[in-house]
Amino acid sequence: MKKNKLAILASGSGSNAENIIRYFQAHPDVEVKLVGSNRKNAFVIERVAPFGIKTFVFNATQLMDGSVTDQLKAAEITHVILAGFMALIPPNLIEAYPDRIVNIHPSLLPQFGGKGMYGMKVPEAVIAAGAKEAGITIHLVNEKYDEGKIIFQEAIPVLSTDDATSLMERIHQLEYKNYPRVIESWVLSAGSQ
Ligand code: GRF
Repeated sequence: MKKNKLAILASGSGSNAENIIRYFQAHPDVEVKLVGSNRKNAFVIERVAPFGIKTFVFNATQLMDGSVTDQLKAAEITHVILAGFMALIPPNLIEAYPDRIVNIHPSLLPQFGGKGMYGMKVPEAVIAAGAKEAGITIHLVNEKYDEGKIIFQEAIPVLSTDDATSLMERIHQLEYKNYPRVIESWVLSAGSQ
């Protein structure tokens, strides 16, 4: 089998990106080849530097006009992993990677999803709504925020002692536990080369 080559796109801290990179470090069939960010000061760039993976920074115009897609193609990227990427994926990228772009969202979609629902806003909304359950969703990406086909969800209870910070901490742990292995089985099944 030809090796599957992942690009991770991230806009923030990149803790999921690092966790995914570590998971695939010695993998026979999957490698993380590229990390891209739309924010030049995003910590993800610094965080992944020790792993020797090529990084690139781009602006909104380059995302929209197809230059980012061209860079992914030039690097022979087969699958695109969004890990805290805060921009809408343009049609040119979706058309280049149909059903080959995956995202993680820190809620049980369709609850607490959509435009404006990112970062701490999500657990804050969960607590404010008095929800009994929180969780994560891993889904394929289409032109609308958080609306592609769901491939994995896992719930955790919201504790009576939780505030948004403690809840987000447990959600992050759930992400670290699941995102790499869900990516692995997705890439190696229907999504594989
Ligand atoms: C994660 O909570 C993820 O669900 C969301 O953005 C956050 C990224 O965190 N899409 P990090 O940058 O991986 O630390």
